[in-house]
Amino acid sequence: MTKVSPSILSADFANLERDCRLVMDNGADMLHIDVMDGVFVPNISYGIPVVKSLRKVTDAFFDVHLMIIKPHLYAKKFCEAGADLVSFHIESESDVAETISIIKSCGKKAGLVIKPATPAEAVFPYLDQLDLVLVMSVEPGFGGQGFMENSLGKLKAISEEAKRRGLNDLYIEVDGGINGTTGRLCAENGANLLVAGSYVFGAQDVKAAIDSLKI
Ligand code: DX5
Ligand code: ZN
Repeated sequence: MTKVSPSILSADFANLERDCRLVMDNGADMLHIDVMDGVFVPNISYGIPVVKSLRKVTDAFFDVHLMIIKPHLYAKKFCEAGADLVSFHIESESDVAETISIIKSCGKKAGLVIKPATPAEAVFPYLDQLDLVLVMSVEPGFGGQGFMENSLGKLKAISEEAKRRGLNDLYIEVDGGINGTTGRLCAENGANLLVAGSYVFGAQDVKAAIDSLKI
């Protein structure tokens, strides 16, 4: 069954603890924490102090998605603040292998993210070192955008390559425009971890929304 990682970018920041509890109490498997620096993406969200504060009030698994230009400079700080998994973009300025090894040396899981224009094959050289690959199905930067269908072929290519290599524990995550319908398409194409922001936090019935993403 797919796992669900609600993106707290769509939560009420004045009530972050309450909203984190709301999704975790209603079946979420982890929390997706989007970090934006205003340089790698044209938006600014939140950073290390917020992760640190949330860590004090929940034991939830933190799936941290760094949309920042030099992730190797900050990865350790996010690990120390309480991230369980740190993902960063292949399109960033950091050396991929070095950044993976910084995250791993903190004892945390490492993920690599590709934007909509980056081919699936770009992650193949690193696949054996990774715990997660994240395929963006929108241009990173904002919640509430429409799902891009070109992510489906990439999910399929990555899941087939992972299977070929026997990497059965690899998380294949998709992020952007996920709802019950697009989530199903992603699951059919090999995604096993679905990020959803506006669909979950905007729902009248949060439990029903999360349940509909368990495919
Ligand atoms: C976009 C972020 C996403 C975003 C998803 O840059 O990485 O995690 O919050 O939001 P929805 O699910 O509303 O597309
Ligand atoms: Zn994200």
